[in-house]
Amino acid sequence: CGIVGVIGREDAPQVLLQGLQKLEYRGYDSAGIYTAGAGSARLVKAVGKIAALAQAIGPDVTGTMGIGHTRWATNGRPTEANAHPHVSADGRFYLVHNGVITNAAALRATYLSDVTFASETDTEVVVQLIAHFAQGGLTAHDAFVKTLGLLEGSYAFCLADRDDSAVLYAAKNKSPLLIGKGDGFNLVASDALAMIELTDQFLELNDGEVVTLMASQVQIEDLAGQQIDRAPITVTIDAAEADKGPYPFYMLKEINEQPIVMRRLLAAYTKADGQVEMPAALLSALAAADRLYIVAAGTSYHAGLIGKPLFESLAYVPVEVHLASEFGYHLPLLSAHPLFIFLTQSGETADIREVLVKVKKMGAPTLTITNVVTSTLAREADHVLALHAGPEIAVASTKAYTAQVAVEALLAKALGDFKGTEAATKFDVTHWLSMAAAGQQTLIDQQARLHELATTLFAGQDRAFYIGRGSDHAVSLEAALKLKEISYVHAEGFAAGELKHGTIALIEPGTPTVAFVTDPLTAARTRSNAEEVAARGGHVAIIATSDLAEVGDDLVVPAIEPRLTPLVAIVAGQLLAYFTSLDRGYDVDRPRNLAKSVTVE
Ligand code: G6P
Repeated sequence: CGIVGVIGREDAPQVLLQGLQKLEYRGYDSAGIYTAGAGSARLVKAVGKIAALAQAIGPDVTGTMGIGHTRWATNGRPTEANAHPHVSADGRFYLVHNGVITNAAALRATYLSDVTFASETDTEVVVQLIAHFAQGGLTAHDAFVKTLGLLEGSYAFCLADRDDSAVLYAAKNKSPLLIGKGDGFNLVASDALAMIELTDQFLELNDGEVVTLMASQVQIEDLAGQQIDRAPITVTIDAAEADKGPYPFYMLKEINEQPIVMRRLLAAYTKADGQVEMPAALLSALAAADRLYIVAAGTSYHAGLIGKPLFESLAYVPVEVHLASEFGYHLPLLSAHPLFIFLTQSGETADIREVLVKVKKMGAPTLTITNVVTSTLAREADHVLALHAGPEIAVASTKAYTAQVAVEALLAKALGDFKGTEAATKFDVTHWLSMAAAGQQTLIDQQARLHELATTLFAGQDRAFYIGRGSDHAVSLEAALKLKEISYVHAEGFAAGELKHGTIALIEPGTPTVAFVTDPLTAARTRSNAEEVAARGGHVAIIATSDLAEVGDDLVVPAIEPRLTPLVAIVAGQLLAYFTSLDRGYDVDRPRNLAKSVTVE
């Protein structure tokens, strides 16, 4: 979901539309705006893409302020009635909301039993409640604050009052929200990207803060009414970096950027003498930990799986990798001195936030590795490392994944050096990350071959397998996820040796199965497993590193240090998924049902 609000601009509807377009990448299924000023006030909503909303906003829709929203359905289907902004029954208040209010039903029963509702959403309960308190005599501001005090759950809100188009209100709890300061105007949005074309000055907000926005002023206070002074921060995101450039889809652009990101990470984290440079406080905290817990979701979880052997082999520290949504509620028996590493592209994943809050209460040290250094998880952890991948717009994550693996390698090496391990001394991370960048480029240059392979393997197929052992297993999980996300082929990543213990029953003549063979230790065994699939009629493709390649293999990838081969091998998986989606005519960047950052649990 995305939120954008503006006040003090003659072109408010256009500012809202452009902002929403910038948020499109986050995934949504309906959108809407409310805009007002100079005697006019309009509410426009549409199901589907922003283009449909833009069409519905004719030249007669004008305003100097407004709020806009893209909705990813959680509570109620994606219909126009459920789309935001929601309006109170008396027509006075308009509200956009990200998050989930968990006590909406109870609040509705207590305060709003005589109100007729127009939608099935928790958001409407909130806006009706604000109107209810305003009807009772409170000012708009006080009715908003009173309502906030009653809410349980997560929210980022932006509220407009039909009776006063000189003010907008905003508030947050657990969901992201940021203020953008302009010259004679102000903005509010769930993501800096929605505002970067208009300002680079941002005010960060914390949970439990309420904001009053006017054209030339921003007031922040806490729920008790205490004013808060906060200096703006400058966030420089190159607006051009968030553009597609000559590429047909962001995903292809982002796949192509991976070698540059590798080099950028080397520049950011190594010194001229090739030594890795990490904050001393972070290294001390890591060295004091007896076990690292990597907690993540989706693609970032898969990057965590690659990190485990890096930390264990280079820094001699045991590592557990966990899914955030499971870990939050089923804590394993923890070691005496755990340290938690949150791997997250967006820095906003609610499942991870839940874990962060819990482990901070236990007093455990925390590190967030993220692409968005202004994000909630970056702000709230003890330590932060940036991924330096640049804005990732396509929903299917590519360059953030490889950046995560590279940062894990850099950090594992730095920690090993800090502890003085022999393995770290021998591991030339600068050399291997440079080689990884070159290896990625080799695959990017073989797009025609990968397109052909994608077509031969997956055309007309509705299921597929990726298999491998060790890090190749982790790569298989990620390659399968990519294929599922954007081409809707039911793909599974499997430990190659485990297939025969049940799942091989699914192999039929023609079932596509891609085997990664990049590890000298297990290459022969993975090849036998691939043979077992072929013997049952499966359509097997072998992707092998140059040192292990055999005649007849389908794709050869450059061999690098085996622990870092995933940085190269995954590019094949990414491009296979990309071309399969392209062949099927899908919107590669905006797959159905998915959101880029999921701020609900
Ligand atoms: C969403 C996205 C995935 C992503 C996951 C974790 O589900 O669709 O692509 O891997 O969230 O996101 P994070 O921002 O925490 O890495």
